[in-house]
Amino acid sequence: MKIQKTIFITSVFILSSAAFAADAVTTAKAVLAPTQGNTASGVVIFTKATDGVKVVADVTGLTPGEHGFHIHEFGDCSAPDAMSAGGHFNPKHVDHGAPNATPHHVGDLGNVVADASGNAHYEYVDKSMSFSGANSILGRGMIVHKDKDDLHSQPVGNAGARVACAVIGVAK
Ligand code: CU
Ligand code: ZN
Repeated sequence: MKIQKTIFITSVFILSSAAFAADAVTTAKAVLAPTQGNTASGVVIFTKATDGVKVVADVTGLTPGEHGFHIHEFGDCSAPDAMSAGGHFNPKHVDHGAPNATPHHVGDLGNVVADASGNAHYEYVDKSMSFSGANSILGRGMIVHKDKDDLHSQPVGNAGARVACAVIGVAK
């Protein structure tokens, strides 16, 4: 009887593991809301690509020009200025940089560029982020900044205040 029970529990475990693997995350989404006193909002979609994660963002309500665009450590937009999202997501404990530079934070996505109407479209395939393990972006914060990320100043590219914040969640 005891052996049968063990076999049953083991089978359930194997089956549920298989089900989990089949449901592995392939898409995530962050819905940006403006911080206090700002008007920026938008949607960021993350999809699993062959060599990383593809990031596609559409942001509106910005001032024209470049705006720092990063994944921050915490999925917490509760503070009016979004400082609750913490610093850049940096699981490798390296310096800040451009998304295609070595080194750079896993959360470093450079800048979104807004046109004269304040609309920005962004697309990038990132090789360092993932949906599982130490570099998983799930549950982290997505931030758009007031100013341009200069891609070299430490620790955050001198991008200034946070104008929009979102939590990155699992999507279908
Ligand atoms: Cu940032
Ligand atoms: Zn950074």
